[in-house]
Amino acid sequence: MELTFFLANGFLDNPPDFLKFLGRFHPLVVHLPIGFLLLAVIAQLATRKIKFHPLRPFLKYLWGLGAISAALAVLFGYLLSLLGDYDANTLFWHKWSGGAVLIFSAACYFISKRRPDTSDISKWALIILATGTMIYTGHLGGNLTHGQTYLLEYAPNPVRSMAGLPPKTEPRPKVTVLDSAEVYLDLISLMMHSKCTSCHNDGKKKGDLVLTSYSNMLRGGENGEVIIPGDIEASELFRRITLPEEHDDFMPSEGKRPLTEQEVAIIEWWIASGAPSEGRVTELDSEKKIIPVVNNYLGLDKNDIFNKEIPPPDISIIDSLRNQGFIINRLMKDNYFLDANFSLSERELIDSDLILLQNLKEQLIWLDLSNSGVKDEHLEKIGQLENLVKLDLNGNDISDNGIQQLEKLTNLESLNLYQTNVSDGLLRVIPKLTRLQRVYLWKTKINDSIALRLQEENKSLKINYNREEPIDQ
Ligand code: HEC
Repeated sequence: MELTFFLANGFLDNPPDFLKFLGRFHPLVVHLPIGFLLLAVIAQLATRKIKFHPLRPFLKYLWGLGAISAALAVLFGYLLSLLGDYDANTLFWHKWSGGAVLIFSAACYFISKRRPDTSDISKWALIILATGTMIYTGHLGGNLTHGQTYLLEYAPNPVRSMAGLPPKTEPRPKVTVLDSAEVYLDLISLMMHSKCTSCHNDGKKKGDLVLTSYSNMLRGGENGEVIIPGDIEASELFRRITLPEEHDDFMPSEGKRPLTEQEVAIIEWWIASGAPSEGRVTELDSEKKIIPVVNNYLGLDKNDIFNKEIPPPDISIIDSLRNQGFIINRLMKDNYFLDANFSLSERELIDSDLILLQNLKEQLIWLDLSNSGVKDEHLEKIGQLENLVKLDLNGNDISDNGIQQLEKLTNLESLNLYQTNVSDGLLRVIPKLTRLQRVYLWKTKINDSIALRLQEENKSLKINYNREEPIDQ
């Protein structure tokens, strides 16, 4: 009667919160029957010895506690199973063998109560059944929460093959050269494994979605496909990872560590490019949109310029530059890298200064030409100082025309263009400066929309656009 009432009201489909709350205690409560029943088995074995005979009257209490706690675990487990999202087959066996543990342990209780001193075969058969089903249930329970592969993931290969599992796959070697980075295996799959597969694996298929392999990822979840190759807008997976974090649908859920902006950008590019299952990033990204992001994401953009052997500079050149008002310093003790600063000079920069600087092309890695009267025509020679890591050009009358000359400065990490006339021409040159980490653009002809576009197209770049703040997206 009552049951039909509950069913008619969709009670089982949507149990009240309080029952769900209780259900979540199942993983805690299950440890009680395990403890009591193991203790009962040990005590049962021990009391075969005369020395432990005095323990016999207590055996029934141990079995009784085991049975009661097993009943609680079964009840809470049932409530938890209503919350869904478990592998149906494993859940089925887990439920029934859990029920069997309850029945066998209750039977052990009654036998030890009625006939505490017998040690006939039926009693031992029951004890063995209770213990066996308990171990089996526990194992299935572990599979339900951690996934089928959890227990044997790191097992030696012979053990894995006994369990019918394939040998461990060698982990993919860490990518050390951008050219070898495979889009799915080295990027997407790694992201899924670090942030998503704890809830979306073969054993625990939240939303009926498995993200452990390419084919499963494209198969989708309970509401159909989650990735529509080539269509970002229609891809549920992309929608979920770009929602505000507090949104109910945001993934990863439950406050788990979210994907980084770079990871989201890479996933976005991957789906937009048709979500290929294989292919190298460098081949797929013909427009070089994502390469700098990937480079930075994989930590491959560390500048190796500092490992180069640099010959000592020509001292006479340094002397002439100093006479022209340059301040020149060695940057480090154990090599010949130089820092040249003209910003304090009274005089404006002239062509012959640049010719002198050309002679220090190899050694010069920092150059400060702020407020030095640099013009667009000068930038061609400055653009040939290929080892520059830091370049300050703020406070000069330079514009989009000139700065295109800087495109060869692929070692550049910091570029200061405060108070210059640069504008959307930056959109063309910045992507070529593959190591650039920071650009200063306060008081230029750049407006909000250009700044935003620049940030959109160069995700890992820090743009100081307002006085000190990098722009927020
Ligand atoms: C803490 C557990 C958890 C983690 C981690 C997690 N998810 Fe989910 N996910 C869920 C649950 C629960 C659902 C089903 C409820 C819902 O639709 O919101 C779900 C549903 C989804 C769906 C919708 C499936 C469908 O067909 O409706 C997508 C897409 C998804 N997750 C993607 C991801 C991605 C991508 C990540 C990693 C960035 C991730 N999830 C990490 C728990 C998680």
